[in-house]
Amino acid sequence: AERKILDDIEEQFHLDEDALIEITKQFLEDFRTGLAEYNHPMAMIPTFVTGVPDGTETGTFLALDLGGTNLRVCEVTLLGNHEFSMKQQKYRVSEALKTGEASVLFDYLADSVDAFLTEHSSVGSPLSPTHDIANPFDPVSTPAVPLGLTFSFPVEQTALNQGRILTWTKGFAAKNAVGHDVVRLLQDAFDRKHLHVRCVALVNDTVGTLLSRAYSAGSCLLGSIFGTGTNGAFVEKVENVTKLGDSPARKNGGLMVINTEWGAFNNTRTKLPTTPFDNKLDRQSINPRFQAFEKFISGMYLGEITRNILLALVDAAPRPLLFNGKASSVLNTHYGIDTAIMSEVEDAWESGREAEIKAHGQPDWQNAHWTDVEALIPSDLARLERIRGILVQRLLLDPEDVSLRDAATVRWAASLVANRAARLSGTAVAAVLVQTGHAKLGGGTPEPEKNIIIGVDGSLIQHYPNFQTRLRASLRVLVGEAVEKRVEIDLAKDGSGAGAALCALQAVKQGL
Ligand code: BG6
Ligand code: GLC
Repeated sequence: AERKILDDIEEQFHLDEDALIEITKQFLEDFRTGLAEYNHPMAMIPTFVTGVPDGTETGTFLALDLGGTNLRVCEVTLLGNHEFSMKQQKYRVSEALKTGEASVLFDYLADSVDAFLTEHSSVGSPLSPTHDIANPFDPVSTPAVPLGLTFSFPVEQTALNQGRILTWTKGFAAKNAVGHDVVRLLQDAFDRKHLHVRCVALVNDTVGTLLSRAYSAGSCLLGSIFGTGTNGAFVEKVENVTKLGDSPARKNGGLMVINTEWGAFNNTRTKLPTTPFDNKLDRQSINPRFQAFEKFISGMYLGEITRNILLALVDAAPRPLLFNGKASSVLNTHYGIDTAIMSEVEDAWESGREAEIKAHGQPDWQNAHWTDVEALIPSDLARLERIRGILVQRLLLDPEDVSLRDAATVRWAASLVANRAARLSGTAVAAVLVQTGHAKLGGGTPEPEKNIIIGVDGSLIQHYPNFQTRLRASLRVLVGEAVEKRVEIDLAKDGSGAGAALCALQAVKQGL
């Protein structure tokens, strides 16, 4: 009976080839709907970024970055040789700021820029003499410092420097912001403080990542984030963005970067493999029935899904299957398990293991069920011992209540949740490859001549063990090995700052 409970859970998290293909098909359908009509949850937002940089761009700009783990202010210098240099300072955004009045949040952003200019920037006056922009909000018209804003939430853009906040995500819920122009909210805060800074461009972090990777690599098809949240932006033919109608942006043809907001894919959950653990997370979240895809994938939520599984095992009948049926304060706290803890657990299990298997071949214990800890060899037992230590320390459990089998169980639960997340992430990437004509669903496309460049950023893809390997396994199933092996997934570390600077440059050139 115990084994059945575990097997049932495992079955619910399993995603076979057919399921992955079905999900990707739905993705493609929703891409097309979102490109044709406004007001869809997966918003397919035109960004008014009509080309990607080639690495020759130069200039120095301020960038402000809100929506990831940290708020950051940066001074970015584009060196023109595919490289940039950056000074940056991170600031914390408290829960009170995230959920209070928007004006207070934006005042805090302005204060952070002010503090940065005073303490870290080479200038408090214009950063680059070539960008001598008159500030229309300042009667004296002293030159203002151009700033690019990376705002990592859904915004319906109407121009490079204008966009209405559609909704908050990732635990933000500041009042009196949704429906307002985010550039205006920020500029008003700068003006309240008489800061000679002018927000000239607005980008999503995915767009920033795309631009920054293009700047470094010479080209880029997709910028995506696997961090606190998840999302992707890709280069689309403007003719396919039919919802732009006859607007000048569409008449000129060419390309435009589209911010998919794929975190909201399949909010109806008709295709997503929802389990009771996901339902519980959604019900108890600040935004039930929104951001469905993100809730299966991103760093903000994976720890919580895992916590829900662990609690079910603690409470299992007729006998508890974990921790002698006891839950610690951490286990009982909403969002008490950070995804970083899962990362540590998986890392303790994985580290050195592959090398050992390579050196000694597949040992017999490889075929043992993961609950048969007695069948494990000493080095694996040592790994479980390490996991046991992590659990006692991080979940504040009584060592008496944590057996090696418990350690194996937690490792198993974490890997189920993370593997599903990475495999689902593969469907989003595959959908972009198919949508842009780089692959056929199910494979069969000949090997491309050139590598397909994808820029990524975010804590999950950066730090979670094997996230990319697992994502690639799913991608291989979906688009075939010939294409998958030509997909180059590189970290655009801190890329959205550089991306915001590149956008600010575009804006300045356009006289915005
Ligand atoms: C940072 C970028 O490196 O990564 C942000 O500067 C982005 O713009 C963030 O939002 C995403 O990762 P995380 O893990 O901080 O959400
Ligand atoms: C959320 C936001 C999106 C952002 C992503 C990654 O999904 O809605 O705009 O790009 O998180 O930070």
